[in-house]
Amino acid sequence: MEPDQVKIVLIGEARVGKSSIISRYISNTFQEFGTPTLGCAYHTRQLNINDKILKLNIWDTAGQERYHSLSKSYSRDSKIIILVYDITSYESFKAMKRWHEILQKEIVLPTTILGVFGNKADLIQSEEVPIIEAQKFANVINASFRKTSAKENAGIEEGLIELCKRYLKI
Ligand code: GTP
Ligand code: MG
Repeated sequence: MEPDQVKIVLIGEARVGKSSIISRYISNTFQEFGTPTLGCAYHTRQLNINDKILKLNIWDTAGQERYHSLSKSYSRDSKIIILVYDITSYESFKAMKRWHEILQKEIVLPTTILGVFGNKADLIQSEEVPIIEAQKFANVINASFRKTSAKENAGIEEGLIELCKRYLKI
């Protein structure tokens, strides 16, 4: 059986940990001092859910301002869009909301599955974004919410599986 190709894109401010989340998921690695993504990077992993085989085509976008139009174009025709913020930066949460507004206007279809990942959950002592507020926002936009830590490998796999199940309507 041919796997179902699923395009997934991660969007969010620079430094929130988009590349780190993907490295953890793809190769189970983490770099304490990762370098900023330039342009866009592509990764792939197969995921079996029940009797379905999915080929996840995961696009890692660059958070830096000068790449914004590029990031936007990679979001087009994505089945799943994951909005990422850093729980220790309220600024990154606001940036994520702005991203959602932009995508909502031009890109998000009624069929697009949305996720919100609050990353760096291991830095709980520096948390700046009230979890209630993040959950509420996710509810309003009909997104699945997860706290994740690329460093400690928390929430990522579960979050992706949840999103893929929504995609498969199971
Ligand atoms: P751009 O490519 O510039 O958009 O950044 P990015 O969102 O891809 O961030 P990146 O994955 O490069 O991570 C930025 C920094 O945060 C790096 O120094 C990572 O080591 C660190 N980082 C990422 N995820 C976590 C996490 O879960 N916990 C902690 N403590 N640090 C993290
Ligand atoms: Mg990156």
